[in-house]
Amino acid sequence: MIPALALYGIEKRFGPTPILRGVDLAIEPGERHALIGPNGAGKSTLFNLIGGGARPNAGRIHLFGADITRLAPAAIARRGLARSFQRTSVFARLSVFDNLRCAAQLTERDRTRWWQRLSGAAAIDARAAEVLDAVGLGARRDVAAGTLSYAEQRALDLGIALAGGAHTLLLDEPTAGMNRAEAARAIELIRDTTAGRTLLMVEHDMDAVFAIADRISVLVQGRIIASGSPATIRADAGVRAAYLGERLEQGSAARAGDAADDGARR
Ligand SMILES: Nc1ncnc2c1ncn2[C@@H]1O[C@H](COP(=O)(O)OP(=O)(O)O)[C@@H](O)[C@H]1O
Ligand SMILES: [Mg+2]
Repeated sequence: MIPALALYGIEKRFGPTPILRGVDLAIEPGERHALIGPNGAGKSTLFNLIGGGARPNAGRIHLFGADITRLAPAAIARRGLARSFQRTSVFARLSVFDNLRCAAQLTERDRTRWWQRLSGAAAIDARAAEVLDAVGLGARRDVAAGTLSYAEQRALDLGIALAGGAHTLLLDEPTAGMNRAEAARAIELIRDTTAGRTLLMVEHDMDAVFAIADRISVLVQGRIIASGSPATIRADAGVRAAYLGERLEQGSAARAGDAADDGARR
């Protein structure tokens, strides 16, 4: 099977400093894959390369068999890869629904779905309404997106990726800045809405990782030191020594400001 996303020998330096030192990874269509590892390992750098924000010094990136290594971010997005949840991409003054309509408008290519029978504005509205419901923002349909809570804005951000027709999603620390209840809801939302899509996610909360991931890869100092099922990774001595032992001991108690920072990061 052709992988949804494949990385071959990815290297990245900033000046003389090697950050990624030969990353190989293949993610199957429909797989939910978590990338974990210590701070500074190069996870966000890798996401940035995949999304076209920067180019690797060596290696190739394929999306469903097509080489996207040298494409610009907009061209990669048009091919169905979305980066979401990391930095809010909503238009603050537009309503929630209009944000979704804007995203839906960008993709009239998806002819395999039921709304292919509808035309023009009706199709866009239908798609936006479906996503609005899927991300749990039905009650917030007509409010300005800028007035949503931080967690709601991130849900909308995910909705924008879905309405835009993304089949492959990169989520970089989707629960960062959320309290425990918000994080649990966000993880559930991600799991539900990404069913049937390909997901590559960086996440530090190991409860969330084990709840979502079909496979996990561990990046340490710019190299993937282990890749496998959650059970395999959990039992891997090298992984425990390099990263996981510490995380599992901390558990989700590590989540900062648990109840106090609700909505503090807007
Ligand atoms: N634009 C940049 N210029 C120089 N160094 C960078 C740049 N971006 C990231 N780095 C460095 O690369 C390393 C990996 O960073 P990053 O990919 O953000 O790690 P992670 O997301 O795994 O925490 C860090 O040491 C960081 O300081
Ligand atoms: Mg990072």
